[in-house]
Amino acid sequence: MLLEVSDLRIAYGDIRAVSGVSFALEKGELVSIIGANGAGKTSILGGIMGMVPVRQGGIRFKGREMNRLASFERARAGMRLVPERARVFPRLSVQENLMTGVYGLRRKIDVARRFAWLHDLFPILRERGGQPASTLSGGEQQQLAIARALVSSPDLLLVDEVSMGLMPKLVDQVFEVLAQINREHGLTILLVEQNAMASLAISHRAYVLETGVCVFEGRAGDLLKDPKLKAAYLGE
Ligand SMILES: Nc1ncnc2c1ncn2[C@@H]1O[C@H](COP(=O)(O)OP(=O)(O)OP(=O)(O)O)[C@@H](O)[C@H]1O
Ligand SMILES: [Mg+2]
Repeated sequence: MLLEVSDLRIAYGDIRAVSGVSFALEKGELVSIIGANGAGKTSILGGIMGMVPVRQGGIRFKGREMNRLASFERARAGMRLVPERARVFPRLSVQENLMTGVYGLRRKIDVARRFAWLHDLFPILRERGGQPASTLSGGEQQQLAIARALVSSPDLLLVDEVSMGLMPKLVDQVFEVLAQINREHGLTILLVEQNAMASLAISHRAYVLETGVCVFEGRAGDLLKDPKLKAAYLGE
C-alpha cells in the first residue's frame, strides 16, 4: 500500500471532525472520499499532510510512519496537496506561480521538461504564462494549482474539492485531466469531493463519509449502481 490510514481521529476542542476512519490506497489508484459539508473531508487531508493535529490513528506512507513528521517532511517524502479553494499567487505570473512549485525541492528535476509536460496537460497555462495569475478564470486557477502541485512529481496527490465553484463543463475538464494523469503516468490520487457523480466517474474506488465516519467503501462502479446509495448520495 502506498498510503495507509488507520483509525484516524481528529477533533477541534470538543468538536469531533473525524471519528475513526480507515482507508488505504495502492500505488496507481484513483480513490475518492465523498461526503457532504462538514463530513470531515478537509480534516482528513489535513491530518495526512500534518497540517491538523491528529488525536489518534496511524498514517503510513510508502511503509513509513508519518505521524511525527512535519508537513514539509511529508511533502518531501512525496505527497502534495491541492488545497480547498486553492489559492494562486495573484500578482505573480502564471509561469512564476509554477516556479514556486520548484522551491525547496531537494532532488534535482529537469525543470524545462517538467514544465513542457505540464503545459501539454494544461495548454492554457502555456498560453497565459506571462499574465498575472489573478487574470485567470476560476477554473484556470484550479488548473494552475494542480499543475503547481505536480511540479515536484509527487507520488501521491491529495486533491480537496477541486470542483467547487466550477461550472459542470469545467468540472469534467479538470477531472478528465486528473484521470489522464492517473492513467498515463500512474500517479496515485486521493480526491475528496462533494460532487459524487463527477468524482465517481473517474475513480476506481470510493469511501463515503458521514459526520466523521466511513459508511460505505467499495468500487466506484458499485456505488453508482446501488439504488440505496444512489438515492442517498447521488440525489436520485
Ligand atoms: N479549525 C476548526 N475549528 C473548529 N472546528 C472545525 C475546524 N475545522 C473544521 N471544523 C469542524 O470539523 C468538521 C469537519 O470539517 P471539515 O472541514 O473537515 O469538513 P469537510 O467535509 O471538508 O466540509 P466541506 O465540504 O464543507 O469542505 C465540521 O463540523 C467543521 O465545522
Ligand atoms: Mg472541506
